[in-house]
Amino acid sequence: MSFTVPEPCVSRLNRCELAVPGSSPHMFEKAAKSDADAIFLDLEDAVAPNDKAQARKNIIEALHDVDWGDKVMSVRINGLDTHYMYRDVVDVVEKGGERLDLIMIPKVGTASDVYAVDMLVTQIEAATGRKKKIGFEHIIETALGMQNIHEIAAASKRNESLHFGVADYAASTKARTTSIGGPNPLYGVLTDPAEDGSRDFHWGDMWHYAIARMVVAARANGLRPIDGPFGDFSDPDGYIAHGNRAAILGCEGKWAIHPKQIPLANDIFTPAEAEVAKARRILEAMEKAQAEGAGAVALDGRLIDIASIKQAEALVNQADIIAARG
Ligand code: GLV
Ligand code: MG
Repeated sequence: MSFTVPEPCVSRLNRCELAVPGSSPHMFEKAAKSDADAIFLDLEDAVAPNDKAQARKNIIEALHDVDWGDKVMSVRINGLDTHYMYRDVVDVVEKGGERLDLIMIPKVGTASDVYAVDMLVTQIEAATGRKKKIGFEHIIETALGMQNIHEIAAASKRNESLHFGVADYAASTKARTTSIGGPNPLYGVLTDPAEDGSRDFHWGDMWHYAIARMVVAARANGLRPIDGPFGDFSDPDGYIAHGNRAAILGCEGKWAIHPKQIPLANDIFTPAEAEVAKARRILEAMEKAQAEGAGAVALDGRLIDIASIKQAEALVNQADIIAARG
């Protein structure tokens, strides 16, 4: 183990993060009553330029007036390359009140982008006497952001999560996509010919590298890796398949761009009961070994290594948080 141990960020349940346009206040109450763990109220791409100012007002009002329960509340500001961004930060942080937990920064490209927003937020927090420190979520969705992802992940004490924004990432990298977050049927490998000359084509996951790289950058800095949108909300099977592969690589959650996707994400990112039961047994075995002064921990005739114990602790902790939420 290195002498450097990543410091974990504030722990929050982030299985499903629901995107809600700030220009559609009629959607707010329904979103607040949904089963999403987190919500981001959007000022960026879901809001037309002429609606940005009104969307800011809607969001500020709703942060005060809507009962969001125990949801994690975030606001997606506009990118640092626009003239909307400074006003988004100033208005939302100054007037949004203590119910605002996070700011989501889109198209983050360099550590300096994070520094700039951190500076603004820090000044506003100090000037207004805010009690709760605002955290940052970063969308990695450009080639520049993916190149600098490790520096971005380490750029601020406010950082909490990295999100893979597959739609803009595809545009930025000029990847050939057929649907947001889905596969391209041409991306695959052809098997060698069998005896009868037949060959199989196996589809590949064109987003594997991006998600795996994001997971590494996030985990190495104590942050949550979150998978972004899956555009076809009438394809639950596609959503489940893509959510599962993100979960298997280490992501803690996924966006929902439609309420239909919320239960799917919750299901994918809630650890299975059998897994949690096994993790509890591992921890019991560890406690028993400690009480007996035994050096090694064994369960069902097999030695349990330290990494498995740590994974079991994390899993049980997450299961307890989910259970507490009901
Ligand atoms: C999200 O913002 C995306 O571009 O996928
Ligand atoms: Mg985007």
